[in-house]
Amino acid sequence: MTKVAPSILAADVSRLKVEIEDAEQAGGDYIHVDVMDGHFVPNITMGPFVVSSIRPHTSLPLDVHLMIEKPEHYVEDFARAGADILSVHAEACPHLHRTIEQIHEQNVRAGVVLNPATPLSAIQHVLKNVDLILLMTVNPGFGGQAFIEDVLPKITELKTMLKEAGRDAEIEVDGGVDEHTATLCREAGADVLVAGSAVFKKQNRKTAVEAIRSGS
Ligand code: DX5
Ligand code: ZN
Repeated sequence: MTKVAPSILAADVSRLKVEIEDAEQAGGDYIHVDVMDGHFVPNITMGPFVVSSIRPHTSLPLDVHLMIEKPEHYVEDFARAGADILSVHAEACPHLHRTIEQIHEQNVRAGVVLNPATPLSAIQHVLKNVDLILLMTVNPGFGGQAFIEDVLPKITELKTMLKEAGRDAEIEVDGGVDEHTATLCREAGADVLVAGSAVFKKQNRKTAVEAIRSGS
């Protein structure tokens, strides 16, 4: 079954503990944490301190999406803070293979992220190393942006690449996912759907998570 990862970027941050508990009760599979540094993307959000603060309040895996320059400098901090999955952008890692190994050395699942403009060939050499591949369907930096449909074929192509490589890394999709675009992503082969606005801006989070998971 498709997993849903509510993104706390769209939550009411003044009530973060309650919002996370709500997302867990609603059936979320991961809690997606968007880390932005004002350099790699034009916005600043949260760091390891927020990750360690929310860690005691959920049993769900914390899926930490690092939209920062030099992520290799912060891998240990986020691992210590309680991240379960740490994903780094291929565009931010001149030594991507090394950074992925560094994440594994911390006993954390390693993910790699591609912006819409970055081709799959950028990660061909790490397909055997990563646990998760996150395909952006918006240019990262803000919640509530429109889904870029032209990324859909990339999801299917990645699914084929993984099959050929004999790997079962999860394919995650992030940006502009709502109940309509979620269906397109599922049909294209996505395993995990990140959703910020489409979960946290809704009154009934349970209905919202279900709609993204199964389109009903
Ligand atoms: C965008 C972030 C996303 C964001 C998604 O840069 O990586 O995770 O929270 O928000 P929505 O679902 O509202 O597009
Ligand atoms: Zn994200």
